[in-house]
Amino acid sequence: MDKFEYFTGLPEVGIVPRAPHVGPLLQHVHEQEHGRGGFAGRVSHTYHLYPPNNWLPGETAVLADWAPHWESPLRPLGGVHHALGVARPAAPGDVYRGMARLVANATVAMNVTVPTAPMDHFFEHHSATMVIFVHEGGGTLETLFGPIAYGRGDFLIVPKGITHRFECAAGPQHYWVYESFAGDPEKSEAPTTGQFVTHSRSDYRFPRTLDTRNEAGRFEIVSKVGSVYTRRVHPTHPFDVVGWRGDYLPYRFAVEDVRPLTADRSHVPPSAHTVFTLPGCYLCVFTVRAVEKEGMWLPFFHRNLDYCETIGYHWGDFFSRGGVIQEGMVTVHPVGLPHGPQPAALGAFMDGHRPTLHREVGIMADFANPAQISEYALGLSRPDYMKSWGAYTTDPRFTHRAERLAEVRALADGLADARDELRPRSDAP
Ligand SMILES: [Fe+2]
Repeated sequence: MDKFEYFTGLPEVGIVPRAPHVGPLLQHVHEQEHGRGGFAGRVSHTYHLYPPNNWLPGETAVLADWAPHWESPLRPLGGVHHALGVARPAAPGDVYRGMARLVANATVAMNVTVPTAPMDHFFEHHSATMVIFVHEGGGTLETLFGPIAYGRGDFLIVPKGITHRFECAAGPQHYWVYESFAGDPEKSEAPTTGQFVTHSRSDYRFPRTLDTRNEAGRFEIVSKVGSVYTRRVHPTHPFDVVGWRGDYLPYRFAVEDVRPLTADRSHVPPSAHTVFTLPGCYLCVFTVRAVEKEGMWLPFFHRNLDYCETIGYHWGDFFSRGGVIQEGMVTVHPVGLPHGPQPAALGAFMDGHRPTLHREVGIMADFANPAQISEYALGLSRPDYMKSWGAYTTDPRFTHRAERLAEVRALADGLADARDELRPRSDAP
């Protein structure tokens, strides 16, 4: 026994050998490696009571039409903004069989699921790491590494290939599911803000409670490779893990732990709210934060010239959307197409009605061009969304007036060089 206690260089739980592949314990438990990058990337090892590939001969089968909306055909977005109505439960309706694709590019897809039935199987995604945002609901994510309790407003990161199952609590469930096909999500950090804005790695919750199952029976695991779903059946419970070690792990991250960057004298751009970067996508959280004190506090009109923008509206007032959007909806703004505040929101800004708080939580995922929209999403698209900026063509405040140019020129004399109140001032008290 050592005189002192120590951390090891890798997280570990339960019964593990002194090092991977080392020692006599491996003659008694079965080591399994979960390795990214051709075994040169992130790795974890699990130690099992029974061989992990003890599937029953003759029971493996490809499943046709297993999750019919998950591969909903993709269509070009063109030059139209979409607001997708709140998704309704699909049949058959467990977390994965009811999954429906919304938007995708070559490396990332956004999906929605509104499960109503329990999972009677375990699941492994062999093509993607998933970032799951729980818009509504909760329960327990059971994984090979131990259970993770989750609730409304949590992100769950489920690495590619990891066996898991959702045990949903009673009540409505509504998740947005981002599949990353080309790499795991990386925590977003910038040299200017360091590693603790907008969140810290200490906000992540990795499983630490092993719930080892020494059970016999028929245990079905469905795996997904591209659009192919395959079922295999094992005679022992897949969570027969007595210990694990490594840093390739599922985890939870609560949206309330996002502590956003704010600025008193300028508008903080959407990219400053990035929490994860994925190959071909960045994922941002707009959350409750102080409104900028001076300058532009409303989103400027903009064109995102290399990314298609999606926002899932989780909670709040959605100030810039002027009452068009409700919780649970998703907007899709194609690459390059200008957008910005709805007329009511711009009117409030022009009238100087500055609130003190942005009361909102929205999850933005922007997809590198080219991105496409699914037929399923087009079925949810509200035909009137493009008209929600219509007051710009009818409200006299925004429409053509012969004297407008002269008015702006006259105003510019007094306003264009106006100074900030918060600037350094020798005459300040
Ligand atoms: Fe935008």
